[in-house]
Amino acid sequence: VPVHLYGQSCNMDEVAEIAKEYNLFVVEDVAQAFGGKWHQKKLGSIGNAAAFSFFPSKNLGGFGDGGMMATNDNRIADIARMLLSHGGRDKYNVVHIGYNSRLDTIQAAVLLAKFKYIDELNSNRRKIAQVYTAGLSEISELRCPVTLSDAYHIYHQYTVRIADDKRDSVKQSLAQKGIATAVYYPLPLHKMKLFRDRAVAAEKLEQAEKASEQVLSLPIEPLLSEQEQLLVCESLKKTLS
Ligand SMILES: Cc1ncc(COP(=O)(O)O)c(C=O)c1O
Repeated sequence: VPVHLYGQSCNMDEVAEIAKEYNLFVVEDVAQAFGGKWHQKKLGSIGNAAAFSFFPSKNLGGFGDGGMMATNDNRIADIARMLLSHGGRDKYNVVHIGYNSRLDTIQAAVLLAKFKYIDELNSNRRKIAQVYTAGLSEISELRCPVTLSDAYHIYHQYTVRIADDKRDSVKQSLAQKGIATAVYYPLPLHKMKLFRDRAVAAEKLEQAEKASEQVLSLPIEPLLSEQEQLLVCESLKKTLS
């Protein structure tokens, strides 16, 4: 399950190689990357199947919960259509244990209206990311995200890493200036209650643990003004100088 985290594509060439070698089925998690691409191919069209999220905070978000799955395999499509509607081909003939996961009509209407603007909004996100990278690269305690050259990154999040245990104080100082930031994610999976006692092979995942202590996602709402983008850069420079 390659997760196209923060809007950037995983290296799908490597994923395809591993999947071929071990005869695996690839389900792309495109929840954070609607409109992103790998080698000009839209994310969600590369693996055997893909999951999308239209949760309101996503780059294509509805006004409530919603999602979509994609596949070009008719067998998977057939099963998915059953599962999303209680598990049957028709209302009164259940074949599988399914769910009630139909996209409701109000959300569909909202998403259709927003869908027209998604490419433009993604492009704005990319421009803001450029401004941030240009403005923040010189700060030695901060690491900007790196874009893979084969990926079309849509910057669902612009997530920097802040060294020397300063992340939380930087977050607080930005909040005092009215700049909202977020930590995605504060707890790696193997530390969560559900997995803690089961993750025997993963007692210590140093890189994941370090990332969870250092990451900070900056505002990247696509209608952010130029002035607001510069304020974010200037505030970070002042806080870390
Ligand atoms: C990477 C990723 N995968 C899956 C999900 C789940 O999406 P949903 O809450 O719409 O089921 C999310 C949403 O938070 C996500 O960010």
